[in-house]
Amino acid sequence: MYNPFSLRGKTILVTGASSGIGRATAIECSRLGATVILTGRNEERLAETLNLLDISENKHFSIAADLTQQASIAELVSNLPQLDGCVNNAGIGKTTPVQFISENDLEHIFHLNCFAPILLTKELVRKKKLYNSSSLVFVLSIAGNFNILPGNSIYGSAKTGLSAFVKYAALELAGKGIRCNSVSPGMINTPFIQNQAYSEEDKQKDMSFYPLKRYGEPSEVAHAIIYLLSDAASWVTGTNLVIDGGRSLK
Ligand SMILES: NC(=O)c1ccc[n+]([C@@H]2O[C@H](COP(=O)([O-])OP(=O)(O)OC[C@H]3O[C@@H](n4cnc5c(N)ncnc54)[C@H](OP(=O)(O)O)[C@@H]3O)[C@@H](O)[C@H]2O)c1
Repeated sequence: MYNPFSLRGKTILVTGASSGIGRATAIECSRLGATVILTGRNEERLAETLNLLDISENKHFSIAADLTQQASIAELVSNLPQLDGCVNNAGIGKTTPVQFISENDLEHIFHLNCFAPILLTKELVRKKKLYNSSSLVFVLSIAGNFNILPGNSIYGSAKTGLSAFVKYAALELAGKGIRCNSVSPGMINTPFIQNQAYSEEDKQKDMSFYPLKRYGEPSEVAHAIIYLLSDAASWVTGTNLVIDGGRSLK
């Protein structure tokens, strides 16, 4: 059947695949025919994701890695086959008012959200692990670029830093035929939200600012990522897709 969004024959690495958006992306990629390589730190939760993948056509596998460790990134990359795509999704948030920012928080949040995807991209390119028509997708956030909320400065700055990198990488890697794009989700129902210090009341109030009157689901981000990974987006590079139920309109 004709499907320009098919990922049949493609091998895709998904970071942060043990939970939330990464898990949903891995599941949807497998349903669209890709061979999926999962990574994250928690091997038990990676195995849970692996069990949820469509295995009718491909053999998927996982490699545990802590992306805040340079040696762990190097080992991950050395164990990878050639890739058609990489979804740089692993990330963490932390709500900290400006006067309480610590060097530790800065280092931790920037490392995973900004430095790790940059270093992983560098390693994939240097080790020639990307086919010439491959697609790199970076999961950013509306925080920083499209939505400024109190307490979110470190996270928003880290994601904004990464959004600049995506454009530079898109320009530099275009000569090799490698595309680089990003998605910027609004609030998505994953453990990420549960880990923040939001009360149910805060969440209901925040949700009322969403024109579509609800938070998003992980699969709704996954589908946008799949568009960018697929040949349907073969002439799309250096762009960002906002997926936020209209939140950034307000
Ligand atoms: N949910 C939202 O509202 C929302 C909104 C906008 C943007 N985002 C972005 O979407 C991405 C995914 O978030 P999510 O909501 O799916 O969060 P999540 O459910 O908390 O998942 C986060 C993932 O990151 C991985 N991770 C954390 N630390 C890591 C490390 N040191 N090394 C390797 N992997 C690590 C975790 O795996 P392990 O624990 O197994 O390592 C997990 O798989 C993040 O980049 C986040 O900033 C989320």
